[in-house]
Amino acid sequence: GAAELGPYRHFMQKEIFEQPRAIGDTLDGVTAIMPELFGDGAYKVFKQIDRVLILACGTSYYAGLTAKYWIESVAQVPVNVEIASEYRYRTSVPNPNTLVVTISQSGETADTLAALKHARSLGMHHTLTICNVATSAMVRECQLAYITRAGIEVGVASTKAFTTQLAGLFLLTLALAQVNGRLDDEQEAMYLKQMRHLPVALGSVLALEPQIIAWAEEFARKENALFLGRGLHYPIALEGALKLKEISYIHAEAYPAGELKHGPLALVTEEMPVVTIAPNDALLEKLKSNMQEVRARGGQLYVFADVDSRITSSDGVHVIRLPEHYGLLSPILHVAALQLLAYHTALARGTDVDKPRNLAKSVTVE
Ligand code: G6P
Repeated sequence: GAAELGPYRHFMQKEIFEQPRAIGDTLDGVTAIMPELFGDGAYKVFKQIDRVLILACGTSYYAGLTAKYWIESVAQVPVNVEIASEYRYRTSVPNPNTLVVTISQSGETADTLAALKHARSLGMHHTLTICNVATSAMVRECQLAYITRAGIEVGVASTKAFTTQLAGLFLLTLALAQVNGRLDDEQEAMYLKQMRHLPVALGSVLALEPQIIAWAEEFARKENALFLGRGLHYPIALEGALKLKEISYIHAEAYPAGELKHGPLALVTEEMPVVTIAPNDALLEKLKSNMQEVRARGGQLYVFADVDSRITSSDGVHVIRLPEHYGLLSPILHVAALQLLAYHTALARGTDVDKPRNLAKSVTVE
């Protein structure tokens, strides 16, 4: 009801603004990295596995894609990420030394549950879930679990569930790294400190709302949008495009920026807003040349940079700067900006933000 909304117009907006609290709660009490954060016996399981298979749907799948970048780079464990509805029906090559990780807000998504059972039927019995509902079927079915503390999510378009999944997946990354001898005390302390500071860092991203509203007013008049990211921020580009299409009904696609010239560049005209996620990381220089390719075709760039990215506004290049550069955890901050962009674009178009047409909060039948 309206009373629960407080100062917000929709649950989605409320849930976006709840994220500092949700992440804080999800990481509350984590004072050290250890496998047991995922349940009793986790150390033994993490010792036995030599690969990870992530299964999920929708926004949870994009959390999984982000985790692949983290786990492979930090823990050096190979990761496959599969859409649950594909995995359950294809013939794949099982390996018993796999840690099967499901990611689900509801813990009741039919395809994700079926994919988990399929993996088990192939002899893969090490299972872990990152889930927001402690009493769900998913948590009952998995050997190990990390329960995110987003709280009840009402908006069909997932927001706080996603960022808390990322927090849980980052902990998993660090725990796997530790078991593999790839996390020393100094690194552990540094990551813990960064995680503790996340709620404040996220709060300062949410404070960019007025600038994002100005962009949303322009987006509301468009019928197409392209989202670009590279590396860790490619999955975030996918999630940003998904948010925009789910609630504003604008056709949006995401590409890893290096793929521009293999297709999407053909779509770029003055009418095409191109959202670019451009934190100051190792790929920034490459990304800048992708941005030139867009500008050369008249495309309008909307760049989410950060305090350290050397990118300035110019003709056709609009820049919003996130206040902190956040390294590996930067996707959590950048996605919040994209959630606000989708939300305000939908608001300007007058769509039913919390209940977009044809979509359900959780898909419990196939
Ligand atoms: C539906 C929801 C999405 C969600 C997906 C997976 O499509 O609208 O927001 O990401 O299901 O749901 P799950 O509960 O498994 O994360």
